[in-house]
Amino acid sequence: MEHEQHTMSALSNFRSNLTLQFSLITNLENSIYKVKLALLSPSFPLCGTHNRSAHTTDNSIMPLKTSTSTMLDSETVPAVRPRKIRAAKAAMRITNPLRDIVDQLKVPANPPKPLISLSIGDPTVFGNLPTADNIIERLVENAQTGKYNGYCHSTGYEAARAAVARTHSTSRSPLTPSDIFLTSGCSGALEIAISAVADEGSNLLIPAPGFTLYAVVCDYKNVEKRFYQCKAENNWEADLEHMESLIDDKTAAILVNNPGNPTGAVYSEKHLRDILALAERYGLPIIADEIYEGIIFKGHSFHALGDLSDNVPILTVGGLAKNYLLPGWRLGWVIAHDRHDVLSEVKIGLLKLTQVILGACTLIQSVVEEALLNTPDTYSQQLTATLETHASFLNEKLEKIGGLQPVTPGGAMYLMFGIDLQRFGCKTDIDFSKKLLEEEMVLVLPGTLFQAPGFVRLVTCPPLDKLEEACERIKLFCERHDTKTK
Ligand SMILES: Cc1ncc(COP(=O)(O)O)c(C=O)c1O
Repeated sequence: MEHEQHTMSALSNFRSNLTLQFSLITNLENSIYKVKLALLSPSFPLCGTHNRSAHTTDNSIMPLKTSTSTMLDSETVPAVRPRKIRAAKAAMRITNPLRDIVDQLKVPANPPKPLISLSIGDPTVFGNLPTADNIIERLVENAQTGKYNGYCHSTGYEAARAAVARTHSTSRSPLTPSDIFLTSGCSGALEIAISAVADEGSNLLIPAPGFTLYAVVCDYKNVEKRFYQCKAENNWEADLEHMESLIDDKTAAILVNNPGNPTGAVYSEKHLRDILALAERYGLPIIADEIYEGIIFKGHSFHALGDLSDNVPILTVGGLAKNYLLPGWRLGWVIAHDRHDVLSEVKIGLLKLTQVILGACTLIQSVVEEALLNTPDTYSQQLTATLETHASFLNEKLEKIGGLQPVTPGGAMYLMFGIDLQRFGCKTDIDFSKKLLEEEMVLVLPGTLFQAPGFVRLVTCPPLDKLEEACERIKLFCERHDTKTK
């Protein structure tokens, strides 16, 4: 009996304890809801459910029910759905001007003619410029061995780096595989080269006109981009006075692109030496984008900055995309030309940066040696001859159209022409390109995209019959809009 009573009282104590704990838990839950609701309320400084600041990093859950009173009164746990996740600021800083501008160039719903696109620097799209057979054969063989399916050193296979070092060494600037960093395309090379020398808040001097990616990487890295002018009337040479005026104590490097995109300009040895002298005076390294090094027309010579430089450290970037017509294979490189051993820390930085994504595709790396050392010279000669014929053809045709001023390229795969905009009743080069597309279905890229307003860029890769047809249509368009002859 006594035992029973004791058990009953123990049970009753247990129940009241349970009730107490339950009510504590309920109160606690209510308090949590109240705090959550306060945080989620539009009046809370950071967190209105629909007007949250883009800068908040709070990713807490959001109640499905919108009526606060129902929620507070209810003891049931409300269903929740995840709050919209904000993108990181660095990602959102990236704006690809190509997209912004090309989106304005819409192909009409009922196109009057088939499209001829002279817009994208991908030499493979028309199928008239195949890559070298030996590279394809080696790729197939290598794939079948199964030896190139694994990871490799993050800077790349030794054999591939040795091939880049060998083909880019000169007696004045000898290189070893440790000077080479293989990357995913030349774009990857540009990203790590810029990242290795330019801190957030520093500035980088980049060419105008210039390849759009330079500015994109600067924006992503929070590096200030400072455009130095390159003038059409001077074969697109850099205006050195202007370049010098942009330098200050936060300047990290000068980026030089030779041969140039979008200009097709090939710089003289003298001009390159003048740039080197300026960089040396200010103790600045140069990032030399020489991806078009192999496409040089008659009457021009290519001079690698790494070879010319005595005292200026040079990070040269290049790759397989253009010289070997393999843009989709995404194989690029950074070469550190460092005669005075002043880039040792930067090279450690480059190594660390390659470790982020563990280097370039190993199967593609396995053919770098074959491409660079065994491709017959005739392959490159033929490619250059074809692109030179195309460039001269375009130059000749466009020169004859009143109101257009083509600038003869010395290499690469582009040609720019200036437009007498007023004469054609166009406000901008974007306007010109837009009307040309709508009326004649010829797609060219407005110079504004490359910091060259008043110009457009053509790609010289398509077959001659396409280029001829394009010129014919550009002529028709210009004649139709020419206010001088009306
Ligand atoms: C001047 C220049 N640099 C770099 C690149 C990027 O090359 P990749 O396709 O190897 O990334 C391009 C591509 O068009 C280019 O024109």
